[in-house]
Amino acid sequence: MNVFDVYPLYDVTPVRAQGSYVYDNLGKQYLDFYGGHGVISIGHGHPTYVNAIKTQIDKLGYYSNSIQNPLQKELANKLGAISGCEDYNLFLCNSGAEANENALKLASFVTGRKRVIAFNKAFHGRTSAAVATTHNPSIHAPLNNQHEVTFLPLNTIKNVKEEIEKGDVCAVIVEGIQGVGGLDEGDSTFFKALEKLCQQTEVLLILDEIQSGYTRSGKFFAFQHHHIQPDIITTAKGMGNGFPIGGVLIKNTIKAKRGMLGTTFGGNHLACAAALAVLEVLENEDIMTNVNELNHYFIEKIKTIKSVKKVKGRGLMLGLEFDFAVAELRKKLIFEKQIFTGGSANQNLLRILPPLNITKTQINQLITSINEVVPN
Ligand SMILES: Cc1ncc(COP(=O)(O)O)c(C=O)c1O
Repeated sequence: MNVFDVYPLYDVTPVRAQGSYVYDNLGKQYLDFYGGHGVISIGHGHPTYVNAIKTQIDKLGYYSNSIQNPLQKELANKLGAISGCEDYNLFLCNSGAEANENALKLASFVTGRKRVIAFNKAFHGRTSAAVATTHNPSIHAPLNNQHEVTFLPLNTIKNVKEEIEKGDVCAVIVEGIQGVGGLDEGDSTFFKALEKLCQQTEVLLILDEIQSGYTRSGKFFAFQHHHIQPDIITTAKGMGNGFPIGGVLIKNTIKAKRGMLGTTFGGNHLACAAALAVLEVLENEDIMTNVNELNHYFIEKIKTIKSVKKVKGRGLMLGLEFDFAVAELRKKLIFEKQIFTGGSANQNLLRILPPLNITKTQINQLITSINEVVPN
């Protein structure tokens, strides 16, 4: 049997990693400014995280959601306290797409309606409803087209209002900051108007914080920059620092019914131990302060790269827009400078998603390396 060949691959074979560094099978060290699609929040191999997983697997790795699992309650409490989202309840699953799939399903259950409003350039995952709300027809199979989704431009509330007034919309789904699409985001006026409109019309507002959440933007969730309260928040990526886990945070005005949602693996003991360790490190090491301080430092340093036309994003979720396509630059950074960075739907945009405890020295190394390989 061979591996189903769906991914374009760089010819690098990582075998271990520590902090912000990844090491390949030849012993070469790479600086990680991408965290494997924004997954690595507290750094590779953090001792607190490794010990928590090792200790838990020695005790109990998995049992299903048919028994008491106090780790889920501990995780919900801790996540509520650290994120400031105490009046939400937590449903645990295994990935970002699954979190959005459950959020959309829940919105449809609650409202009895089924059309969804999503935004141009949105990415919400690859499962059925999640991919239908992803603004990329090339990854929609005919099966996915059964969902009713209307795509609208960000920051134009008038269009959203017109669609919602038709009376068949169950949810509006929007990323805190767009990731795959290229770091566009709603402004505060738009987010506030969206919150108000959804409340007035009993449409559920779903904030996809799968990439922008978990402190990456400089607040625990990116929507907190706009002082709104969504009905549902979805999270994954940084939540498990590489251990597969996703979460749906559901406003406590939405009542659970037995059997409404469910999963075999979601919220298992090992996943909870990993997610608890991530929160412990975020808190104990005051990672949010590092993100905010380094954001300012990073932005100043980026100004030394002449060919950067625009800097997008917040915190340590940044997009450097060049006046040329960045595919070649990314290759040079990997193979000549041993630095991982990301791309996006915008071919000119270099996506930067480092571990959140990256240092100024490591930022300097990235900036120097870009300046050495870009045509000035
Ligand atoms: C904003 C956003 N939502 C959802 C997803 C899907 O997450 P997963 O790949 O874990 O299913 C992603 C993945 O890149 C994402 O960036």
